[in-house]
Amino acid sequence: MNYNKKTVKDVDVRGKKVLLRCDFNVPQDKETGEITSDKRIVAALPTIRYLLENGAAVIACSHLGKPKGEWKEKLTLAPVAKRLGELLGREVVFAKDVIGEDAKAKAAALKGGEIMLLENLRFHIEEEKNDPAFAKQLASLAELYVSDAFGTVHRAHASTAGVAAYLPAVSGLLVAKELEVMGKALDDPKRPFVAVLGGAKVSDKINVINNLLEKADTVIIGGGMAYTFSKAQGGEIGTSLLEADKLDYALEMLQKAKERGVKLLLPVDTVCAKEFKADAEPVTCDAGKIPADMMGLDIGPKTVALFCDAVKGAGTIVWNGPMGVFEFPAFAVGTKAMAKALAESGAVTIIGGGDSAAAVEQLGFADRITHISTGGGASLEFLEGKELPGVACLLDK
Ligand code: 3PG
Repeated sequence: MNYNKKTVKDVDVRGKKVLLRCDFNVPQDKETGEITSDKRIVAALPTIRYLLENGAAVIACSHLGKPKGEWKEKLTLAPVAKRLGELLGREVVFAKDVIGEDAKAKAAALKGGEIMLLENLRFHIEEEKNDPAFAKQLASLAELYVSDAFGTVHRAHASTAGVAAYLPAVSGLLVAKELEVMGKALDDPKRPFVAVLGGAKVSDKINVINNLLEKADTVIIGGGMAYTFSKAQGGEIGTSLLEADKLDYALEMLQKAKERGVKLLLPVDTVCAKEFKADAEPVTCDAGKIPADMMGLDIGPKTVALFCDAVKGAGTIVWNGPMGVFEFPAFAVGTKAMAKALAESGAVTIIGGGDSAAAVEQLGFADRITHISTGGGASLEFLEGKELPGVACLLDK
């Protein structure tokens, strides 16, 4: 996959109408609809400010939730327009539709240095279907397309890929940074390159493990998926998470690591409990010797020492997926220790979005990490080495 794409800085934006795809898929309070984290809006500000300061008329657009082609009042982007206006300290014109009369009139009237936001793209079923007629109408509002929605680049939708058939397409500053940092880690990492993989399910990470075994010098596997690896090697895992249909895959990966000379580290001990509860009593036991009535909920102290030692001296560390149930303080020790080890490693450290990003932020290490990806599913697919439609459609440098 070619990550070397043109950015907003490689084209002349002055006086141009720019269709800017953002990822404003923000979390909201179920009752009040209030935005509970504006991090994704804040992440889009550098590109928006750059475009406005350089005289572009910015037509921002995004999806919110999964309305599946229905107009749902709860999923209107109006609160995002308001919050964006507060953050920018200027008016954000809000269009009541996406490609309708209101959007067209407001886009036509928009001047350089002004910004508007379209209504939720997914109110049109054509968006997710990547319908060419819809993409063409969307594109007709503007003269240039800028993709800054890294969280959505793995989707082949009208606004993330389809519009590029009708407009010159470049990346925004957020997408450019994600591509530069994560692309370099995969293609030309400072070595040793250590990948730390966790999370609940092997099935979510199959292609990531497979791809990183071809790139990394060391692969560390923790979290819930480690129990499937333990079982595959004949271990007793009690009532821990198990994906019985992935046992062969786990053995294949162990074999692949051996063949490629990659160090693959698995937990040597486990913190278990009888129940999946925050106040369950933690008991430490050796990996593969979990009592029949207990489940593993975190890596144990010997594993913490082993894993932390393995990241020492690394040139690049990519981490995706927590080491245990970090939402429960008694079982957050392993994840916290990993976050601290990364923060203190001196390596280029990259957190691949989703739960691990939340863990690093919640545990207070975010400002000591080189790069925390804004993509969940997108960064996972990036680490799988897949071609991302929202990146492939951009102009090469
Ligand atoms: C995300 O929240 O990961 C992105 O906004 C993509 O959303 P989606 O999974 O609904 O496509």
